[in-house]
Amino acid sequence: MVAMLSKLLVSLLLIKLASSSSVDGHDFTYNGFRGVNLSLNGVAAITPDGLLRLTNTSLHQIGRAFYSVPVRFKNSSDGDPFSFSTTFVFAIVPAGDPDLSGHGIAFVISPLNNLPGAHPSQYLGLFNLTNNGNSSNHIVAVEFDTIINPEFNDINNNHVGIDINGLSSIKSSPASYFNNKNGEFNNISLKSGKPIQAWIEYSSIEKQLNITISPIDVLKPIRPLVSSIVNLSSDIFNEMYVGFSSSTGSMLTSHYILGWSFKINGQATPLNLSTLPILPQLPHQSEKKRMSEKKWMVLAIGLPLFIIFILIAISIGVYKVRKKIKFAEILEDWELEYGPQRFFYKDLFIATNGFSEKELLGVGGFGRVYRGVLPTSGIEVAVKKISHESRQGMKEFIAEIASIGRIRHKNLVRLLGYCRRKGELLLVYDFMPNGSLDKMIFDHSKSVLQWNNRFQIIKGVASGLVYLHEDWVQVVLHRDIKASNVLLDHDLNGMLGDFGLARLYDRGTDPQTTHIVGTFGYIAPELARTGKATMSTDVFAFGIFMLEVACGRRPISSRAMLVEEPILIDLVLECLKRETILEAADPKLGGDYVVEEMEMVLKLGLLCSHPLATSRPTIRQVVEILDGEDSIPELCPDSFDSSVFGVGHDEGFEDLVILFPSLDAQSFVSGGR
Ligand SMILES: *[C@@H]1O[C@H](CO)[C@@H](O)[C@H](O)[C@H]1NC(C)=O
Ligand SMILES: *[C@@H]1O[C@H](CO)[C@@H](O)[C@H](O)[C@H]1NC(C)=O
Ligand SMILES: *[C@@H]1O[C@H](CO)[C@@H](O)[C@H](O)[C@H]1NC(C)=O
Ligand SMILES: *[C@@H]1O[C@H](CO)[C@@H](O)[C@H](O)[C@H]1NC(C)=O
Ligand SMILES: *[C@@H]1O[C@H](CO)[C@@H](O)[C@H](O)[C@H]1NC(C)=O
Repeated sequence: MVAMLSKLLVSLLLIKLASSSSVDGHDFTYNGFRGVNLSLNGVAAITPDGLLRLTNTSLHQIGRAFYSVPVRFKNSSDGDPFSFSTTFVFAIVPAGDPDLSGHGIAFVISPLNNLPGAHPSQYLGLFNLTNNGNSSNHIVAVEFDTIINPEFNDINNNHVGIDINGLSSIKSSPASYFNNKNGEFNNISLKSGKPIQAWIEYSSIEKQLNITISPIDVLKPIRPLVSSIVNLSSDIFNEMYVGFSSSTGSMLTSHYILGWSFKINGQATPLNLSTLPILPQLPHQSEKKRMSEKKWMVLAIGLPLFIIFILIAISIGVYKVRKKIKFAEILEDWELEYGPQRFFYKDLFIATNGFSEKELLGVGGFGRVYRGVLPTSGIEVAVKKISHESRQGMKEFIAEIASIGRIRHKNLVRLLGYCRRKGELLLVYDFMPNGSLDKMIFDHSKSVLQWNNRFQIIKGVASGLVYLHEDWVQVVLHRDIKASNVLLDHDLNGMLGDFGLARLYDRGTDPQTTHIVGTFGYIAPELARTGKATMSTDVFAFGIFMLEVACGRRPISSRAMLVEEPILIDLVLECLKRETILEAADPKLGGDYVVEEMEMVLKLGLLCSHPLATSRPTIRQVVEILDGEDSIPELCPDSFDSSVFGVGHDEGFEDLVILFPSLDAQSFVSGGR
């Protein structure tokens, strides 16, 4: 009763206050607000351009504007309000990032042309915490809200809703407009900064309130966005102010009304959109926009080009890096003097078809050997790939390789040069078309190598060894003389290969431990004992080699490990003792040999393999004997009695490290396949 009475009093008061200027069936239309007499609150202002600027970019401000006089909405306090229609164009312009802007704007029907005590920010300048939702507010508003406020049950941060006496909308929808063409609702951003037109229409008969929005370049949608039946009879007094309210919070946003038309009991006069004032572009904003437009232009054109460029650059880079890694070699300053003997890895890679298995000639103790054809010269080469972990002694070794590379002898396989990579050393040799000798002697599938060839080979290898031991500027020990290290050229001349290589494995080792380089069965007894290679130990191995070639047997047959079979040297010695030395000759020859030569080779072989180093001839003496310039000294079989194994057994065989233990070790340099 009291409330009713007070309401009545307030309405009477308001009617009295406003009666002087209140209008019936009022309508007005403003296409811009220049010179318009509006009732402005807070920071609201009419700009010289005719824009109604409710808020500018200052924070926590309220801006309102009301039509200067109250509008008559009904004639009796208990009656229903008249129909009304209004349309306006507004813009919510964020100063910065649209995602960080707000708050919204509201069309408001209010008993007063000022709302004292109302708060900015989410209260939109309409209510405050205490009066929000009170029916005594008598405020009917339509909010265009850009912030989601859960306390008001906001649906999102871009919605349109009907607020009666409070900010919890009785009905709301995400901001969108009905597209008359395709019959769908299109989303629209309220805070895009672009002008948006709104229509708010109330039908007194249907009690229906319709709200419609659209971009200004789109005709009025035929379907409203929000439509609700509302009983406004108790909320709207006979005379009410109509206007707008908006507020800013902690984010920089400006709110503008560009034009406004209102009519009671009829359709509001459509706005002349073409004559509306133009929204100002904030200096930094327009700059930004231009910048961003430019940026987009640059991006649109530049980005694809840039991506293509980057892709090309990356692929070139990857290709180059891969190529570089693939062909990476190590070149140190000290190697520069060996320039002519250095090969490019790339060339060797191409020469050997990428070290293809098809080009593999053999696998030996040192590594794999590939056949190749040098891309520039077309020379056929054998490329030996030696894995070498340590850099230790590499400098000296390369120096030696370089030096050895200068050795030229018709019975020595020519070392053409080298290439060094990380953990890998590649040696390039002349290619030997007939492969290694061991295959010719031991491979039963091949035709038997005739004696004259064998004798020539022995003589050739001996003369090569003389060159290494005595004729070259420095003594070069071979350390691994054996049939598989003797290669055959076109004319079946014997070529000694792999000389000097054993040095690679002989460096940087502890002198206390004995590392022996050589092949089991070819190692002189004193070498096994002391680990010290000498010319004499080379002669020992050469002696075994001669026996090998003459007898067609391996020094220690692989079967000897399993069955009790005499080692080659003992076998020949037995024959010598029985004075039937020719029985040791290779049976495959079928007796087809020069007896004197055979006998000489067998005896010389034994002499060279004498357990006592002092009893062995020098390699030069061997050559002289082979050439018939000297005669072979008389052999005393009993002097051999301390056998190879007898000597070795009790004297530190534990320390023996055989680097090339394979009896079937294939040729290192080349070999027919
Ligand atoms: C604006 O309208 C109000 C109310 O009608 C009036 O009191 C005031 O004088 C007007 N101001 C101008 C500048 O016309
Ligand atoms: C915003 O408006 C107020 C009041 O008119 C004014 O004092 C202030 O300087 C304005 N701010 C900007 C950034 O325009
Ligand atoms: C809220 O608004 C009402 C009426 O406008 C006012 O009387 C009241 O003091 C305000 N409350 C606060 C907390 O500002
Ligand atoms: C339109 O907005 C609504 C609500 O924000 C959203 O669920 C919907 O995915 C939007 N539609 C399009 C096409 O962006
Ligand atoms: C509207 O509400 C008033 C009381 O608030 C009531 O008297 C009236 O009948 C209602 N009108 C309709 C159409 O429901």
